[in-house]
Amino acid sequence: MRAEPAPVATPAGARATVAELRNVWLSFNEKPVLEDVSLVVRPEERLVIIGQSGAGKTTILRLLLGILAPTRGSIFFRQRDVAHLSADELREIRAHIGMVYQDAALLSSRNVRENLALPLEELTRKTRPEIDRIVDEKLELVELRGDDKLMPFELSGGMRKRVGLARALVMEPELILFDEPTAGLDPVISAVIDELIINLTTNSKVTSIIVTHLMESAFRVATRMAMLHRGRIILEGLPNDFKASYDPVVVQFLSGSTEGPILERSKYHMLSPGD
Ligand SMILES: Nc1ncnc2c1ncn2[C@@H]1O[C@H](COP(=O)(O)OP(=O)(O)O)[C@@H](O)[C@H]1O
Ligand SMILES: [Mg+2]
Repeated sequence: MRAEPAPVATPAGARATVAELRNVWLSFNEKPVLEDVSLVVRPEERLVIIGQSGAGKTTILRLLLGILAPTRGSIFFRQRDVAHLSADELREIRAHIGMVYQDAALLSSRNVRENLALPLEELTRKTRPEIDRIVDEKLELVELRGDDKLMPFELSGGMRKRVGLARALVMEPELILFDEPTAGLDPVISAVIDELIINLTTNSKVTSIIVTHLMESAFRVATRMAMLHRGRIILEGLPNDFKASYDPVVVQFLSGSTEGPILERSKYHMLSPGD
């Protein structure tokens, strides 16, 4: 009789992992987007993934949520291979992962309270008073108590981001994925959102992955960083490792300089619309 497959091994020396990409390759219509990407997410860290627009950052988050499947390689959440789950198992896993979308992805016909209540209504059997209590608690956390009756069109950019954050929190996730949480915000509001991310993740001991192309935000919130460039992780380490790096791509990206290797082959790519 053959033995069961061995459980997913934890890399030597590392603590248990929350999520992992292992030798992941992904192409869209023959165009390679990720090439042999491996990344381990450790408990309670704030892992910031940086890289140019189009580098594949959002794609990594979509792989973790099981919205996309890799062409090759494996994606794990809590030791379970996300790409090979039934629809029910995937729903179960997604209930433990909070996603804060770049544009907040709020339902325009529902007010703030109704948007926050939605995951609880759809994914749990909680009663109305329980749902109301959880929604109030999360609104308080993002300092939006009293704004619960506002409609999405009435919200400022910073408020939208906070509602998106609160909605990701209502299910008490183990892992929160933030897609460009400060993109499009002014510097002061960006700093407020970054502080909020730090406080919320620290207080609730939740693990997070934050995707951003904004260096100031990256260095503010990161406990660890990884840089994605042309489909590969070119550097992974502590924020200080990035500041000390001599890799010309890292140096150019951190300084925002137009001089360097980044534009040489990807000038037109950089100028393509959208993030
Ligand atoms: N569903 C898709 N179909 C085809 N191409 C896609 C799709 N999603 C993303 N891409 C392409 O993959 C690349 C990486 O996209 P993305 O992960 O959104 O980058 P980032 O978030 O780093 O800006 C881009 O070139 C983008 O155009
Ligand atoms: Mg993106």
